Amino acid sequence: MQEFSASVHFDQRLLEVDIEASMAYARALHKAGILDAGELQKMLDGLAKAGVDLRDSPDDLRPEIEDIHMAVEARLIELIGPLGGKLHTGRSRNDQVCTDERLYLRGAIGQLQEQLRGLQRVLAESAEDHLDLLLPGYTHLQQAQPILFSHYALALFWMLERDRGRLADAKKRSEVLPLGSGALAGCAFPIDRRALADDLGFDEVAANSLDAVSDRDFLLEFLSALSIMMMHLSRYCEDLIIWSSAEFGFVQLADTYSTGSSMMPQKKNPDSLELVRGKTGRVYGNLLALLTTMKGIPLTYARDMQEDKEPLFDSLDTTMASVNIFAGVWKTMELRPHRMRESMDGNMLATDLADYLVGKGAPFREAHRIVGQVVRHCESKQIDMTALELADLRQVTPLFQDDAIEILELTNSPERRNLPGGTARGAVLEQLSRAKALLA
Ligand code: ARG
Repeated sequence: MQEFSASVHFDQRLLEVDIEASMAYARALHKAGILDAGELQKMLDGLAKAGVDLRDSPDDLRPEIEDIHMAVEARLIELIGPLGGKLHTGRSRNDQVCTDERLYLRGAIGQLQEQLRGLQRVLAESAEDHLDLLLPGYTHLQQAQPILFSHYALALFWMLERDRGRLADAKKRSEVLPLGSGALAGCAFPIDRRALADDLGFDEVAANSLDAVSDRDFLLEFLSALSIMMMHLSRYCEDLIIWSSAEFGFVQLADTYSTGSSMMPQKKNPDSLELVRGKTGRVYGNLLALLTTMKGIPLTYARDMQEDKEPLFDSLDTTMASVNIFAGVWKTMELRPHRMRESMDGNMLATDLADYLVGKGAPFREAHRIVGQVVRHCESKQIDMTALELADLRQVTPLFQDDAIEILELTNSPERRNLPGGTARGAVLEQLSRAKALLA
């Protein structure tokens, strides 16, 4: 049972924040008249020392000590004697553990935000370096319309920007102080919770002690934000995996981020991207695990809630590693413009031809029908649209005039979408400067 019940082998990651919260609580006890000035000083010194000791000798964290909160208290009592036993006055591990977790999350979100900024910077630089590179754009994994690679790279920039927003939201709601809620009914000693919140940097004091010790929404929100973030990375991984195949050949991954096959000497596999895609499942799993754990717990605390930590740590580590690897892959991959160009189906210009006819007064539906005829004409002659001549077009409808010939050039296509959010060079430059303003 001891081993089954222990969490110290993973919750030791809360050591630093547990010390921080305990020091603030000791100060609150002093203000409430429960510790005199001398006792407070001894307790603060003892806590500082306990933190260093436990950090330096993690082997002392045996299962019989159960969790990190007990480990800190036990070490404190070893160091300063029975005075150490006063620290837990009016406090429960129920309000302690979730206070620690909120403090921990604050740091984790800060780190992750930084890391996301790093990846966004890689994407913006890549867009700038390859501003005019032409790429087939896809829907249904079928070639749809020509786009700029820079536009494609920046699409992920904005997904990550929303991910940062979700993290900031999760952080905002997490900045509420549970400590002072006791086991469930509130603390029986007159501690100044507002001052305690200020001491620990929380925006607010939790309004209801029952809610405070029961609440793990802040972790669920964080795990949701990570799940969505991993989904974004995973979709880009999927694209790049396809693009690195022999059939596409749009990109080649650096050797550092590829692996060979143990059997086939010629192989260069995109394992880095496959692992990020694969680990996405595990990050979703962690969210589902905690949602499932929480759904059946009668108010307020039950030990089930100890199961919140491994999903938290695992998702955090997995996501941070994934962002890091993904940024490395992107930075080092070789783009192959000629393969992108060769692959492009001239029939991607069909929409442009229809739009041209709209410019000559045809209703779009009619234009769509006429270009359908052009497509069939191309099929029968076994050519694509870039091989058409003006005469071919005019045979279908005299609405096509001399200037229609410009439409049949793939590189001209993105330029026709020069409005905010479009793929024309100018629009992408605008977008890039918006992105850079955020990075600055
Ligand atoms: N290790 C426990 C957890 O993480 C701390 C809270 C224990 N509280 C209790 N009443 N047994 O949930």
